[in-house]
Amino acid sequence: MHNSTQPVMQWDLNQVPYHDIDIQAVHSREDLFYLVAGASFIEIAADLYTDNLIQYFNDQPEIMAWLEEHWKFEETRHGYVLRDYSKHVWPDFDWDRAYQAFFNDYSLQCTQDALEPTRCLEMAARCVVETGTATFYQALSELANEPVLARMAGLIRADEINHYKHFYQYFRLYREMDPTGRIKVFRAIGRRVLEARNSDAETALWHVYRVHRNITNDSDKSEFREMCARFRQQFRQYYPLGMATKMLLRPLDLPKAVTRVVEGPLVKMAERVMGGKQ
Ligand SMILES: [Fe+2]
Ligand SMILES: [Fe+2]
Repeated sequence: MHNSTQPVMQWDLNQVPYHDIDIQAVHSREDLFYLVAGASFIEIAADLYTDNLIQYFNDQPEIMAWLEEHWKFEETRHGYVLRDYSKHVWPDFDWDRAYQAFFNDYSLQCTQDALEPTRCLEMAARCVVETGTATFYQALSELANEPVLARMAGLIRADEINHYKHFYQYFRLYREMDPTGRIKVFRAIGRRVLEARNSDAETALWHVYRVHRNITNDSDKSEFREMCARFRQQFRQYYPLGMATKMLLRPLDLPKAVTRVVEGPLVKMAERVMGGKQ
């Protein structure tokens, strides 16, 4: 996305140079407006279930400390930098009002986020969630035509991959303590993949849409759904399916030869699930 005439950017998520944003380039990109605002909602609301999750691993103080001090901190920071980007580029959008409505709705949905029956399986499920976010930001960084956003998405992607690596390592630790069969792991992964497909993202986008379009009648969502379908179509072209498949297969610990054989068909299947490539 960068060309050689642009200055090399060397900042991190602690000091995003919002004043350097090329507002002209990004302001009219409706897709980016929705994706950035929607992602900021979900990341900030992570706070709702993190404490519950952290508590689940109370047999391992080291894991709890990492979750509390690194993981939780980084997830919410993702939300704050995306929020600030959104407020900077689209100041007419009432972010706070939309977030409040989203939060009220979302907190009802995620009262007791069902944890997996064992810690080992929960770690496998966390790998799925991080795969989802890492691949989302990978696609966003490709989709972004504005350098500050592209770099921001790239940095968040790196954090998500790092989270994945931690969860994967903890998954292996628990599996050693409590040997868990591949089928159980496969089912836990499958459950999360299916769950992840709709609800959170749709709830977030809906609340962005409602405030942006000043919708007072909540019952007719047909136009909203058409818009989502349009975005999905476009997003799919940038979605790194191969990367997603690799990351999802890893906790199954299949022999290398088997992984090579199933990877291709899995990518094809995922393409079909996502609506198919022409
Ligand atoms: Fe995140
Ligand atoms: Fe993450």
